[in-house]
Amino acid sequence: MRAMTVDVKSLLKQGAELADRALEELLPSVETVPASIHGAMRHSTFAGGKRLRPVLAMQAGITISGALPPGIARLGAALEMLHTYSLIHDDLPALDNDDLRRGKPTCHVVFGEAIAILAGDALQTRAFEVLAGLDAPPTAVVQIIGLIANGVGTVDGMIGGQVLDIESEHQKPTPKLVEAIHRAKTGALIRVSVVAGGVYAGATLEDVARLTLFGCKAGLAFQIVDDVLDMTVDSAQLGKTAGKDQATEKATWPAVYGIEQSERDAARLIEEAFAALEPYGARADGLKAVARYLVERKN
Ligand code: IPE
Ligand code: IPE
Ligand code: MG
Ligand code: MG
Ligand code: MG
Repeated sequence: MRAMTVDVKSLLKQGAELADRALEELLPSVETVPASIHGAMRHSTFAGGKRLRPVLAMQAGITISGALPPGIARLGAALEMLHTYSLIHDDLPALDNDDLRRGKPTCHVVFGEAIAILAGDALQTRAFEVLAGLDAPPTAVVQIIGLIANGVGTVDGMIGGQVLDIESEHQKPTPKLVEAIHRAKTGALIRVSVVAGGVYAGATLEDVARLTLFGCKAGLAFQIVDDVLDMTVDSAQLGKTAGKDQATEKATWPAVYGIEQSERDAARLIEEAFAALEPYGARADGLKAVARYLVERKN
């Protein structure tokens, strides 16, 4: 077997720096009128996220074209705006009612609920504006926009998953329900981050099918680990309130299977995800290393 020689820490750091630079450039400054909303958008965006969706898109691009595609950081920035929007709304009193996110007070705590709702909306519309201006062939840009809109939408996408998540509180979850929630609320945006990165780099239909399979499995594994970390790591390390899922009786993977089985399931899903990348050989080493990090991370 070929040894994996990827330094995942520096790969994550470099990817995050590229995404941060693009976000800095693409988000209106805090001086731009109306200043309150731009302050709110920046507060949550630059509070210290891991930038995993941009990094996944970049590594998928490298997997397809063999090198980092020029301008892909803008695609990564748009994905991070969408993710940050989902977090701002996830933390609202009407949803998970959290006051800590990325180690900082949540958007609505600092700016009030009205501005937090609007900041989430604004990150979403700005993301699609950025996607429309991507430096890729028009057919690829349209494909990417459709894919991502679907991934954050109501049918098997992020918003649909959030609806199921909220409506399933305080009930004993079934395996089928928790899988549907996780694939939609979190898995979908991870999947489309991977696939969009590939499409940006010129993926064929076969490539899209492989990246979709990989992204589905890695995305589900990611949310299983998020659930486990909520139960096993403290708030200081998480940068968000630990123990929230049990307190609100959320439909989580450990609630159905227990912590140990959840850890095994996440590890197995990542191994299965790797199989889809077999045809790319060493070009997928970076993508695989990030996927492994998704399940080995401690925050
Ligand atoms: C947390 O996502 C929210 C979920 C979708 C489970 P991340 O763990 O990627 O959060 P940040 O971006 O690093 O803050
Ligand atoms: C959040 O799931 C998923 C989205 C933001 C779409 P969680 O509610 O488990 O995320 P955390 O744990 O608050 O980050
Ligand atoms: Mg939630
Ligand atoms: Mg939450
Ligand atoms: Mg969680």
